Amino acid sequence: MPTENSSLELETFLTDYKQSFSSGSLQRLVLSKYKGMEADLNRITIRPVQIKDQQLLSFLYEYRTNHITKNLTLQESIEKLQLWIGNDFHNAHMITDEWEQQLSLSKKGKWLVNKNRNKNFTAEQKTLTPELAHNRNKLRYVEQDRPYLHELGITDANAQIIPAMSRKWKQINKFIEVLSTAIQQTGLDKRSQLHIADFGSGKAYLTFAVHDYLSANLGVKTQVTGVELRQNLVDLCNQTAKKLSLNGIKFEQGDVQHFSAQDINIMIALHACDTATDYALNMGIRTGADIIMCSPCCHKQIRPQLKSPPLLAPLLQYGIHLGQEAEMITDSLRALLLEANGYDTKVFEFVSLEHTSKNKMILAQKRKAPRDNSEILKQIADIKIFYGIEEHCLESLLQAD
Ligand SMILES: C[S@@+](CC[C@H](N)C(=O)[O-])C[C@H]1O[C@@H](n2cnc3c(N)ncnc32)[C@H](O)[C@@H]1O
Repeated sequence: MPTENSSLELETFLTDYKQSFSSGSLQRLVLSKYKGMEADLNRITIRPVQIKDQQLLSFLYEYRTNHITKNLTLQESIEKLQLWIGNDFHNAHMITDEWEQQLSLSKKGKWLVNKNRNKNFTAEQKTLTPELAHNRNKLRYVEQDRPYLHELGITDANAQIIPAMSRKWKQINKFIEVLSTAIQQTGLDKRSQLHIADFGSGKAYLTFAVHDYLSANLGVKTQVTGVELRQNLVDLCNQTAKKLSLNGIKFEQGDVQHFSAQDINIMIALHACDTATDYALNMGIRTGADIIMCSPCCHKQIRPQLKSPPLLAPLLQYGIHLGQEAEMITDSLRALLLEANGYDTKVFEFVSLEHTSKNKMILAQKRKAPRDNSEILKQIADIKIFYGIEEHCLESLLQAD
């Protein structure tokens, strides 16, 4: 049983830890050189995390084959560190915005301290007040050293973003930021468990990110199901989940058109091709998902049906404009159909165009109280008449149901 340590070096280190946490400048603290009794424990990474309204510390226990996260208050974390540093862990490496410092115990039992300026901290960041620095910490949704990022080839062995993957990295961050706000607004963060379905999960960058964010950061019991047409991607993603010992994520081969799901809290469909988006939206609405997030792509259904009203014909004689018009009408009708089916809906650019051309997000949050939808239904009917649209996939699916 380790005994509590006392040494000037450790006391100073813990004072710095406390102050950097309170000022919002703590980035992370890594405990390594494990000497304790737990089999397969390699290290523990500690970082600040906001859960509901509380600023806590997330302890990521990294075992040889799996990871476990526990969230502690500052006081609880200090009690652990006092016991562990110098006993169970002979090395503690703390990174704050301004300092990088290492406290280690030599083989002869001597404390060694190494403290240097954090060279990665920019001049612009130095001007932040403690409040702003604190807010900035809150806005850090995805940490670079998450194991799944390395496994998916977004980061290298030193947790640095691989340049060719920087656009994907930006998308993941923005996506998690949008999702996180929606989760708080809908109150899903207060549930003890959540089920998420991702239709057209592909290589599953976002699927893994959602699972990691909800289970590790929010501490919610999370089951994520990725549905994907291509068997090779399904196998690859299941292998990755197994390698990382993630039990709450699985991938199934299937066509969203024929897939049936139940009890989904969050439905995601990102860049699912053409009407696959409509099938996914229909499924989200039918299962009563609290949040529906989709980023549509390749709008093929509406374009051949469009009959330009005479006034618009000179504008729409240009193919590019006709394509943009078809996209706008398809997605507007999707958004209006969501509104008519009990969802408050927003349509916006979720990431800048330089990161992906498919940057439109339809975000729908289930309304708490029902409302009269006759006006919206009339708007949908009028738009269809105006453009001569015979069929919109999502509308047909909803009517069939
Ligand atoms: C452009 S990728 C997007 C992958 C991932 N959602 C992302 O954002 O990185 C679209 C994926 O949807 C899959 N897909 C297309 N139609 C589908 C359908 N009807 N059912 C299931 N998956 C589908 C494709 O195989 C492809 O992997």
